[in-house]
Amino acid sequence: MPNYTFTLNGSSVTVDAPADLPLLWALRDKLGVTGPKYGCGVGVCRACTSHLDGAEIQPCVTDVSAVAGRAVTTIEGLADGDTLHPVQQAWVDMDVPQCGYCQPGQIMTAVALPARTANPTDADIDAIENVCRCGTYFRIREAIKQAAAQM
Ligand code: FES
Ligand code: FES
Repeated sequence: MPNYTFTLNGSSVTVDAPADLPLLWALRDKLGVTGPKYGCGVGVCRACTSHLDGAEIQPCVTDVSAVAGRAVTTIEGLADGDTLHPVQQAWVDMDVPQCGYCQPGQIMTAVALPARTANPTDADIDAIENVCRCGTYFRIREAIKQAAAQM
């Protein structure tokens, strides 16, 4: 099988995989990076949301061959050592998670949001499509507002 080399959370990694292997399986099964979660596998639930060159992607519908030579960031790569990213800190401050399953994807989407919209409105936040079965949407909204004010 071919090798694909890319940057993952600041380090170079190489995976031996079919070109059309979903990045999510390369991350979870070959590289042991389990922050991105499997929910639907078809790009709808967004539990797997991560970043490619700083923009959000859904690794379940991204071929591993498409990220060769590029930079992938997962929830594991957000903090700077012991210092949480402002979005992660807001999640802690607002006690956002319930079961937690969707939360890595929620946070990665929230991190990408201020890059598109400096001061997200309720409508901007409500347009986020990440699904939370536990209904943490209200706390997510408040955490995004707190983080945006600090970023
Ligand atoms: S598992 Fe990737 S969007 Fe649902
Ligand atoms: S916190 Fe349980 S699915 Fe979102």
